Amino acid sequence: MPLSNPTQADEFGVVPPRSIVLFGPPGTGKTTFAKAIASRLEWPFVEVFPSRLASSPKGLAAELRETFDRIEELDNVVVFIDEVEEIAVRRGGEPPSPMQAVTNELLKTIPAFREKSGRLLVCATNFIRALDPAFLRHGRFDYVIPIGLPDEEARHAIWQGFIPQAALPQIGLDELVRATDGFSPADIEFAARGASQAAFERAVTINGTTPPGLSTEDYLTAISQTRTTVSADVAKEFEEDIEVLARL
Ligand SMILES: Nc1ncnc2c1ncn2[C@@H]1O[C@H](COP(=O)(O)OP(=O)(O)OP(=O)(O)O)[C@@H](O)[C@H]1O
Ligand SMILES: [Mg+2]
Repeated sequence: MPLSNPTQADEFGVVPPRSIVLFGPPGTGKTTFAKAIASRLEWPFVEVFPSRLASSPKGLAAELRETFDRIEELDNVVVFIDEVEEIAVRRGGEPPSPMQAVTNELLKTIPAFREKSGRLLVCATNFIRALDPAFLRHGRFDYVIPIGLPDEEARHAIWQGFIPQAALPQIGLDELVRATDGFSPADIEFAARGASQAAFERAVTINGTTPPGLSTEDYLTAISQTRTTVSADVAKEFEEDIEVLARL
């Protein structure tokens, strides 16, 4: 809200965020969330891929600096760095890892990026405890936001998005929501696709009679065949990370 209403934010003394971290288990919606911010703000979305920068002959640190110099020319932008733990690993250790120069470069880049308004840096990680503590220090990131598994209300909305409109009235949404406690959005998407595929195959192989459409049963079957990504252990570690590292 402060980013989309900067004048009002200023009147109320609210300082818009310039950089944030999203963390959470795989498939919970970090990338989706970052893209949704850009789309809400109607700002361009620029994703920086550390792995691609690494292949440059100039080296990752130099490429990172040049990339941010180019981004500097944009008036409004949401910059997204996924899997930031790859370039913001804990420093220390002998001999120093070649990644340390990159971590240092990133630590310098963030304050420079924060100087101008109208821009937001979003970093995402599945593994926040691997990050260099200096990276998460106060002043670098305005918020460190956990993105966890969807609750009932969120699962309801996600299921609704993945079931074809025409089939929605005949599907017991509440049953699907109950059956998918512990599912990530990506797991729900996987189960929804499975159900669609099974019902579709049934429809095209039945000749003559009107084929039965997508049913709640199709979805429940697909759900029972879906292995969830986030194990109990990972969910527990995530709770600990929220306790220790989240900043909202
Ligand atoms: N809020 C949401 N509503 C509906 N679908 C969602 C939502 N968030 C995520 N999804 C779906 O779940 C899938 C995984 O989401 P996304 O890629 O954003 O997760 P992630 O946290 O970035 O995963 P990773 O850690 O693997 O990068 C996507 O295909 C997306 O369509
Ligand atoms: Mg992602």
